[in-house]
Amino acid sequence: MSHARIIVVGNEKGGAGKSTIAVHLVVALLHESARVMVIDLDVRQQSTGHFFANRAAWAAAEGVTLPHPTLPPIDGEHALRIGLTQDVDFVVIDTPGADTALSRAAHQHADLIVTPMNDSFVDFAVLGIVDPITLDVIRPSLYAETVWDARKTRAAARGGSIDWVVLRNRLASVEPRNRKRVDERIATLSRRVGFRAIAGLRDRVIYRELFPFGLTVTDLSRTVRPIQVSLAHVAARQELLVLTQELGLLESAH
Ligand SMILES: Nc1ncnc2c1ncn2[C@@H]1O[C@H](COP(=O)(O)OP(=O)(O)O)[C@@H](O)[C@H]1O
Ligand SMILES: [Mg+2]
Repeated sequence: MSHARIIVVGNEKGGAGKSTIAVHLVVALLHESARVMVIDLDVRQQSTGHFFANRAAWAAAEGVTLPHPTLPPIDGEHALRIGLTQDVDFVVIDTPGADTALSRAAHQHADLIVTPMNDSFVDFAVLGIVDPITLDVIRPSLYAETVWDARKTRAAARGGSIDWVVLRNRLASVEPRNRKRVDERIATLSRRVGFRAIAGLRDRVIYRELFPFGLTVTDLSRTVRPIQVSLAHVAARQELLVLTQELGLLESAH
């Protein structure tokens, strides 16, 4: 049986940044010499799958050595079964923005669930219902219930608990008022349903413009530089480092 740490990146919402977070986490772990398997359960979009195919193609074409994860064959159910028994340090599972049987199965195996969300009440609604007059959190909603079910199932089947982290993605440097309101609701909900809220990532072009090469800011070096990058990438690297530290991943990569 595998002793890999299983990380599920999930949210019942498209466009929240699941695939972006997944690929950045995987590359950060690879650069710490961790052995990583990646499973992309978004069978339709395959964003993460494409990213790592691009990475292999780019590295081969440029004659550059890069660390790569292992990827099981695409078929979702098969992939999940193989992935969960691999001899690797981490299995990172990207999921679709919808409630599917396969996504639920993945959640039930998670040691850590990472949920990115935009700084918006539209995204907040899949986690908790907010009173339209007072903006108080009334109760947990769709995705919080999915995680609750996964926690129950996992505790009953294998024991152990699931760490759940919610992070804000694509934070804008403006909009402090909306951010503060969303922050307060997240803090309330985090106590109610048991997740940790962490800062996450700002909205930065560098997080998406390296995608077609299958690269992230963590890869950039003198030989790995497919496009002109500004100094802003230094801030992005730092932000990612903080993210992996707050997730508690780098300690266990050794
Ligand atoms: N922090 C960020 N900065 C800039 N663009 C981002 C960021 N996070 C996500 N994006 C972009 O937002 C879109 C949705 O992100 P994606 O990771 O595909 O979400 P999901 O997998 O949840 O559907 C993509 O175009 C992606 O490049
Ligand atoms: Mg995706």
